[in-house]
Amino acid sequence: MFNSLTPAPPDPILGLTEAFKADPNPEKINLGVGVFKDDAGQTPILSAVKKAEELLLQFESTKSYLPISGSTGYAAGVQNLLLGEGHSLISSGRIQTAHTPGGTGGLRVAGDFLKGFNADAKLWVSNPTWANHKGVFAACGFEIEDYPYYDPKTFGLDFEAMLSTLKRIPAGDIVLLHVCCHNPSGVDPSPEQWAEIADVAAEKGWFPLFDFAYQGFGTSVEADRAPLLLFAEKGLEFVVAASCSKNFGLYNERTGSFSLVADTADSAAAAFSHVKRAIRTNYSNPSSHGGAIVETILGDAVLTQEWLSELDGMRERIHGLRSKLVDTLASKGVDRDFSFITRQNGMFSFSGLTPDQVKELRESHSIYIVGSGRINLAGITSSNLDRLCEAIATVL
Ligand code: LMR
Repeated sequence: MFNSLTPAPPDPILGLTEAFKADPNPEKINLGVGVFKDDAGQTPILSAVKKAEELLLQFESTKSYLPISGSTGYAAGVQNLLLGEGHSLISSGRIQTAHTPGGTGGLRVAGDFLKGFNADAKLWVSNPTWANHKGVFAACGFEIEDYPYYDPKTFGLDFEAMLSTLKRIPAGDIVLLHVCCHNPSGVDPSPEQWAEIADVAAEKGWFPLFDFAYQGFGTSVEADRAPLLLFAEKGLEFVVAASCSKNFGLYNERTGSFSLVADTADSAAAAFSHVKRAIRTNYSNPSSHGGAIVETILGDAVLTQEWLSELDGMRERIHGLRSKLVDTLASKGVDRDFSFITRQNGMFSFSGLTPDQVKELRESHSIYIVGSGRINLAGITSSNLDRLCEAIATVL
């Protein structure tokens, strides 16, 4: 059966972690996968999470199956995070949410669900986009197209080109948009630009699919949801795949969600019945623990406050690292202007390093960044910053 197989290429992000682990250099630096690290290079379990787990250990009474869409308490918590407590989409029943295995699981559920009722639709992603987007949606059977997004000349958004392509996308096609902290570029549209994007969606009738993996890593939990509220105000239908991996630090608990917003509560319920079929034929129903942690935190005002301040701490650390990186590069004699790094949002910096420079960083310096030049800033610590900047100066 398998004799004729040649190995598949390693995953551009998770494959890098495997290569990093195998590297014997004690000074190696991993700035690849999007995982938060503190200044000691550790990915700690949030204190709010630990406390929620203690409560679960005490009060959890069964390991019986969850419903196909997961716990309703988790879904309610997620909806409050996505839209803000008391939002009319929630009170009117026009939003339905399923607990999925991570944000990636949410994307896959979205793809399977959307493919199921509009087989001819194409799916449009930004150029560039998260390295796994195309793989997930190709696996759902979609033909995938790019829309322009990042302009390497300005290190910013090529909004004119983006909008002109969005205006050509036919009704019924699906457009994937990153709600905040665009992965990999860290470049987000301004509020005014988002308003124009929502206008084009309304006018052209293409279907918005949001990837919301970094809520709280841009400005705040509240501010980061603004694009969703804008589309909701326009009365548009849309779907959202969201993740609790980063903002709750629940990476290995695979805790995410799929939500759909429909015109009426009845159509939301009907559409959601198809979502449940997509889930049942994939992973049947979600594993409980991560969702139970999130539900416990969001159901307790004190734990919620503690979580929010831990999230602020993670965001502020990364934000501070942006200017430290720019200043230290300059102090190592790099004359290229890297100040654009301070204008990017979220966990990543799109450094502008070429594939050859990325390769040299890895092969000669044991520094691992994604082939596109994406750096996970959170992997920078006081003890590796100098070595990193010296190595970048050398490869430049
Ligand atoms: C990333 O972009 O590094 C993260 O979203 C982790 C992943 O699964 O790729």
